[in-house]
Amino acid sequence: MSRKICNDRLPLPYLLLYLVFASVSAANDFYIVFLRDDVVSGRSTLQTHLNVLASLKGSEYDASESLVYSYTKNFNAFAAKLSEAEARKLSDMDEVLSAFPNRYHKPHTTKSWEFIGLTPNAKRNLKVESNIIVGLLDTGITPQSESFKDDGLGPPPAKWKGSCGPFANFSGCNNKLIGAKYFKLDGNPDPADILSPVDVDGHGTHTSSTLAGSLVPNANLYGLAKGTARGAVPSARVAMYKVCWASSGCADMDILAAFDAAISDGVDVISISIGGLTGSYTSDSIAVGSFHAMRKGILTVASAGNDGPGHGSVSNHAPWLLTVAASGTDRQLRSKVELGNGATVSGIGVSMFEPKEKMYPLASGVDVAKNSDTKEESRYCLENSMDPGKVKGKLIYCKLGSWGADSVVKGLGGIGIFIESEVFLDAAQLYMAPATMVNASTGKKINDYMHSTKSPSAAIHKSEEIKVPAPFVASFSSRGPNSGSKNLLKPDITAPGINILASYTPLKSLTGLKGDKQYSKFTFMSGTSMACPHVGGAAAYVKSFRPNWSPAAIKSALMTTAKQMSSKVDKDAEFAYGSGQLNPTRAVNPGLVYDMDDISYIQFLCHEGYDGASIGSLIGQGTVNCSKLLPSNGVDAINYPTMQLALKSNKEPTAGVFRRRVTNVGPDESVYNATIKAPAGVEIAVKPATLSFSKAARRRSFKVVVKAKPMNNVLILSGSITWKSTRYGVRSPIVIYNPWAN
Ligand SMILES: *[C@@H]1O[C@H](CO)[C@@H](O)[C@H](O)[C@H]1NC(C)=O
Ligand SMILES: *[C@@H]1O[C@H](CO)[C@@H](O)[C@H](O)[C@H]1NC(C)=O
Ligand SMILES: *[C@@H]1O[C@H](CO)[C@@H](O)[C@H](O)[C@H]1NC(C)=O
Ligand SMILES: *[C@@H]1O[C@H](CO)[C@@H](O)[C@H](O)[C@H]1NC(C)=O
Repeated sequence: MSRKICNDRLPLPYLLLYLVFASVSAANDFYIVFLRDDVVSGRSTLQTHLNVLASLKGSEYDASESLVYSYTKNFNAFAAKLSEAEARKLSDMDEVLSAFPNRYHKPHTTKSWEFIGLTPNAKRNLKVESNIIVGLLDTGITPQSESFKDDGLGPPPAKWKGSCGPFANFSGCNNKLIGAKYFKLDGNPDPADILSPVDVDGHGTHTSSTLAGSLVPNANLYGLAKGTARGAVPSARVAMYKVCWASSGCADMDILAAFDAAISDGVDVISISIGGLTGSYTSDSIAVGSFHAMRKGILTVASAGNDGPGHGSVSNHAPWLLTVAASGTDRQLRSKVELGNGATVSGIGVSMFEPKEKMYPLASGVDVAKNSDTKEESRYCLENSMDPGKVKGKLIYCKLGSWGADSVVKGLGGIGIFIESEVFLDAAQLYMAPATMVNASTGKKINDYMHSTKSPSAAIHKSEEIKVPAPFVASFSSRGPNSGSKNLLKPDITAPGINILASYTPLKSLTGLKGDKQYSKFTFMSGTSMACPHVGGAAAYVKSFRPNWSPAAIKSALMTTAKQMSSKVDKDAEFAYGSGQLNPTRAVNPGLVYDMDDISYIQFLCHEGYDGASIGSLIGQGTVNCSKLLPSNGVDAINYPTMQLALKSNKEPTAGVFRRRVTNVGPDESVYNATIKAPAGVEIAVKPATLSFSKAARRRSFKVVVKAKPMNNVLILSGSITWKSTRYGVRSPIVIYNPWAN
């Protein structure tokens, strides 16, 4: 299993994989072993870990040889090199709650803030904002970037316990970038990376500057998207925890170690743009690490993944995570294309080259094959499939098979490429040669022209910004339903994640492809990776006004104030966008919040049928007795700001009851009335329909009863409840999910 950062060079459709990639990284013999919090058998936690291992291995020497890391601060666990049989034996020990294999994950791979209403002159609480520390788990950071200049910032807040090197190839921290650490517990050298928090990929520099970058006037990529670059909270402090490495990706044991460090260092919000695993909440390092963060009052914001538009693809879907989908802003980057017959079409992408000649000869990949055996591959302009003599001096037309066809064609002396694709048409890719991506209908036009003349020609112009209708959810953004639970809506929210301009690393060319000599301080990236720090930044922004709010309260505020999106634009509705588009300035004053603590999450897991032992391993105790914790009426206890009813039958109606409790965070004397929107075939009732608050009554409970008829092959129906006072509207989507739809 391999974990990814959620960005730019998005995964290719599986159909094409056989042409492109070898296998993903295989499982290894590192295991992460969780012990009960109360197990202490030696002088220290480390000694305890050695004792447990020694009882397995037979000697203290072998124990210390196999121990890789002791997690001692926020949870009682260790990482060790073990055989599968040893791991099984360990799992059977009384002290041991769980042992799961370490897996490698990949990172999911300027204007966006104005687009969602957080303008440069938005109200700010600068004194508190500069006390907010955001922690990112990512590929590292570029300390010398202008986005991390510390002009006007005093020393780090007193609560900060983190550190920053010194490290190799790392110029060091300042009052903006106050902490940096790296985690690479497998000890394997990575020749493509540097053993330091420095960012050789660009992903971590990009996400950090989006979240909390200082103001940088005149940011742009070769004149595109010119403007002042800034993060959501330009005065907040940044701490980078590098867990993703160029060759191996991001290991579970490193991710857990980084959570452990970030929690103890004193960060306020964690942002993690790394691919989670779908399925269980209790055996995924991001879910486990963020649960411990939540217990210490730290909200973790995570990317939903780039595995859309297929259903059930959302990851990082634990209830205590704030799961972020990606949407488009009104800026798209396109190139004008002229054909030899005078026709003009257009394609998508960032290509910074103005043609030197009026027209270039044009040929199809199939027609420039090395020989008849390589035609199938040259259709995709893959390496070693084309005849250099036939490519030289030409624009080549190919289908999307592998990223980097621009490099291949350029390497053979070609001018540039057209790429035809049915996917990835909403995010502009960057190219190292004149190139653009076209859809099938534009592709047909070009092909028809190509075959209508003996000497076809074309020119691809430098990309320009154009305005498009927005917002809409990116096609690559992972969709619900949530594979971890039929009764929990995921993703939670959406934020801009297409063509985001932010800081970049000087250690990598813009495309990272062979022969690319383009470097820039800023670049565009797309992915739920880019959406995630928008929400992480908004969470920090809310926290700067509401420093005492719990993670659940901040999350609720962001979700109930999100701007409603339309199922007419995105047919997957809430499974694409959750509660809607992030709206940071409104989230500071939500009126009411759905608050909760860790017990509610544990009750939820019990209700979902998680066994007591796996819940115990999450919270660091022995088996949890769920029958003690569950409310006797069997009603779902989680106080979540959205509601999802899964149909229990495709023949009989399904009824569901949601019990919720809201806390008034607005004026003491407030009255809220419920407004219900129910889709056809669904009845929704709320009791009581009015909630009155006073100084003495800050919390109120209510009950929503939903009755849904069986649905014919419809996956999702959308309703909502909005609590309205004279000043506020507190909106929760109510989703009816039909597991029988296909
Ligand atoms: C890192 O530092 C070493 C030693 O100073 C130097 O040789 C190397 O070129 C540096 N690497 C990069 C990518 O800057
Ligand atoms: C293909 O792209 C062209 C040019 O951008 C656009 O006008 C057309 O609507 C697209 N066609 C489809 C089927 O998306
Ligand atoms: C769990 O709690 C229930 C209800 O309080 C109790 O009847 C049962 O004995 C408990 N089970 C264990 C194993 O402690
Ligand atoms: C709530 O409903 C009551 C009774 O219908 C009405 O008097 C009151 O004005 C409503 N309040 C708001 C804020 O809509």
